[in-house]
Amino acid sequence: MAKSAAGAANITGSTPMSRIFSGVQPTGNLHLGNYLGAIRNFVALQAEYECIYCVVDLHAITVWQDPAELRAQTREVTAAFLAAGIDPKTSIIFNQSQVSAHAELAWLFNCVARLGWLNRMTQFKEKSGKNREAASVGLYVYPNLMAADIMAYKATHVPVGEDQRQHLELTRDIAQKFNNDTGKEVFPIVEPLIFGAATRVMSLRDGSKKMSKSEPSDFSRINITDGPELIAQKIRKARTDSAPVPGPEALTADGLQIAEAHQTERPEAFNLLAIYAALSHQPIAAPLNEFGGSQFSDFKRRLAELAVENLGPIGTEMQRLMADPAYVDSVLADGAARADAQAAPVLAEAKEAIGLLST
Ligand code: TYM
Repeated sequence: MAKSAAGAANITGSTPMSRIFSGVQPTGNLHLGNYLGAIRNFVALQAEYECIYCVVDLHAITVWQDPAELRAQTREVTAAFLAAGIDPKTSIIFNQSQVSAHAELAWLFNCVARLGWLNRMTQFKEKSGKNREAASVGLYVYPNLMAADIMAYKATHVPVGEDQRQHLELTRDIAQKFNNDTGKEVFPIVEPLIFGAATRVMSLRDGSKKMSKSEPSDFSRINITDGPELIAQKIRKARTDSAPVPGPEALTADGLQIAEAHQTERPEAFNLLAIYAALSHQPIAAPLNEFGGSQFSDFKRRLAELAVENLGPIGTEMQRLMADPAYVDSVLADGAARADAQAAPVLAEAKEAIGLLST
């Protein structure tokens, strides 16, 4: 958590065998949380590691998606990857449904994962809500598909935001059980990479909820494609309290984190400060030292400028790329072919270990 994106180079602490995999759902409204928790870290990691980044369209359809919008949003997430700085030549960018190994391996994992494990998944409980009986079966086994995404490439490290930690623990359990059951070391035990000052960006309207694509109020989040005026307006309107900006007295003794009591008392204030720290590539202590004791209006002005500096060029480049869907589709097709070449032998190895005959 305390590690910065700049420190990503040796973050896996590892050998050249490390392989990075991560995914983003094409469900609209990519926001600052997706950027700071995930996409920006994807970019930093590719300098050092073999990286595979996937637009997880099969995950998206676990809840109903309008077909035309799904197509558009798949291209939009791809455009965001490219605009943020993922290089499609060195890294692999593709959409999940074009590589059939994901769905096939997910079935094998459906037969490995236990009901009790899935029953503990907090995201299923949140997403299915009160009407669990009406949730799709796909939504329930969503984490098994996620495990298949990662294991199809024998990926060793997965950069994600804090909200995905439990799913990665399940991935580890599935890999372990598969290896134990078959007596073969087919799958690695994956490590989450959760780093930067904003691994859990909260809603601008309610500091107890995470910033989310599906929150009805657009003012709860900053979308990657928001223009400068709108970003400034959303930050101006972001909920805070009447006290001045908190200072370094809110830090833990080691100075690395916000002390829990302070965090609980002023979640909205610390959320904005964490966003500032992440956007300026600094530890959380930096904005507390710089702005502690001043008025929120001044701090918010600086935060808005910083957000516009960071997101403005990405939004502009995304617009340009989205005007050229043929190019975006060619990136996905090329990525899918390269991903398929890596995943097919892993799937074959898994089938062989289980005893499925292939001719
Ligand atoms: P998704 O599409 O919800 O989010 C994409 C990435 O953004 C991170 N994220 C956040 N980080 C910080 N603060 C927030 N408020 C915030 N909201 C979202 C997420 O943690 C994620 O890293 N299940 C995954 C997609 C997936 C995947 C995978 C990820 C499918 N297969 C394999 C890794 C490996 C998801 O729904 O992400």
